Amino acid sequence: MYNFKVKSIIHDYEVAFIDNTKEVLKNELKEGDFIIIDNKIKELYKDELNDTLASFQHIGIDAAEPKKSYQGAMPVIQYLIENGFRKNHRLIAIGGGITQDVTAFMASILYRGVDWYFFPTSLLAQGDSCIGSKTSINFNEYKNLVGGFYPPNKIFINPDFLNTLSDAELKSGLGEMLHYFIVSSEEDFRRFKKDYPQALVDKKVLAGIIARSLEIKKSYIEIDEFDKKERQVFNYGHSFGHAIESLTNYRIPHGIAVSYGMDMSNFVSVKLGYIPQQVRNEVRELVEKIWEGTTITDIELNKFTSALSKDKKNIGKQLGLILNKGYGKIFKDLRPMDDEFVSWLQEYFDTQLQPQFA
Ligand SMILES: NC(=O)c1ccc[n+]([C@@H]2O[C@H](COP(=O)([O-])OP(=O)(O)OC[C@H]3O[C@@H](n4cnc5c(N)ncnc54)[C@H](O)[C@@H]3O)[C@@H](O)[C@H]2O)c1
Ligand SMILES: [Zn+2]
Repeated sequence: MYNFKVKSIIHDYEVAFIDNTKEVLKNELKEGDFIIIDNKIKELYKDELNDTLASFQHIGIDAAEPKKSYQGAMPVIQYLIENGFRKNHRLIAIGGGITQDVTAFMASILYRGVDWYFFPTSLLAQGDSCIGSKTSINFNEYKNLVGGFYPPNKIFINPDFLNTLSDAELKSGLGEMLHYFIVSSEEDFRRFKKDYPQALVDKKVLAGIIARSLEIKKSYIEIDEFDKKERQVFNYGHSFGHAIESLTNYRIPHGIAVSYGMDMSNFVSVKLGYIPQQVRNEVRELVEKIWEGTTITDIELNKFTSALSKDKKNIGKQLGLILNKGYGKIFKDLRPMDDEFVSWLQEYFDTQLQPQFA
């Protein structure tokens, strides 16, 4: 089993890879713990979780972006307060990134902070979001705009959960993890690209990618947990990606939107002479496999530029874009939303959405 610790300004926490969720729940949970669980997981893993759910209070939530909001979180808080949850009790989240964000947000504000444990069940949550302390929820149509930093006390990763993920969710997780490998180095990117086909069918290969993804992320969050400087490069693909998610009403899963976003960032980086076309092509060949079967041709350019202009990384009227100067050389660039930039986006939507490597 591969375990490690993450250093945090708030409190250090442990990540453990496990293979028996039932046993770990039995050993780790104590009186007063309150489980927040994705309804889908509750149903899919009935046999494994029934004993625990019979012994502990729990509340099921639907993993949908509109639920990751005040409107979604407040009834849960009401329920917790009314059902005996105290400051010395703990929240136990079992689910993907949405269950995580809702639980983390509540854990951080309820009684000025309560302890929480996390059992990530989606690939995205196992290979990315489970570490890093972020707790944001959505505010109306604006994604991840309200929240802070509040890590769990412990994270238990069981890759067996991934057996029930849909193909799209698996690819979303891989797309999300890919951005860490490109930010890290050419060697990491090449390894990811080589392992990708096997990772879709072999959980051991996938677990290796998860472990490396977390290792890369850990090395950044331990020096810039609050996302002021070094960590910001992990927004690579995300300004464009968030705009795609919200303009398609979350039809496109997060990591797939980020894959489109990385290609857009690379397209702009080629226009600016930062990378040769060949680097963009190498990444494009891979991201096309990730987003295969999805389409974003219904997005209107003016809505896209408007969504981009509301990104939280922007400074004044400048867009805070994360661009590419090569593997391991992803960086933040401030650029105006001028006619030239808008014409590049227009060109992207007009000419770049057909498969180029099919
Ligand atoms: N806090 C952070 O640092 C951070 C980082 C990245 C993403 N996020 C957020 O995470 C969310 C995306 O995460 P996600 O993709 O895990 O979303 P999610 O929680 O919605 O899970 C995706 C889908 O997979 C289902 N699912 C989860 N585990 C499953 C399993 N084992 N088997 C079958 N189905 C399963 C869920 O019910 C849901 O339908 C976004 O809201 C994003 O903003 C947060
Ligand atoms: Zn992401």
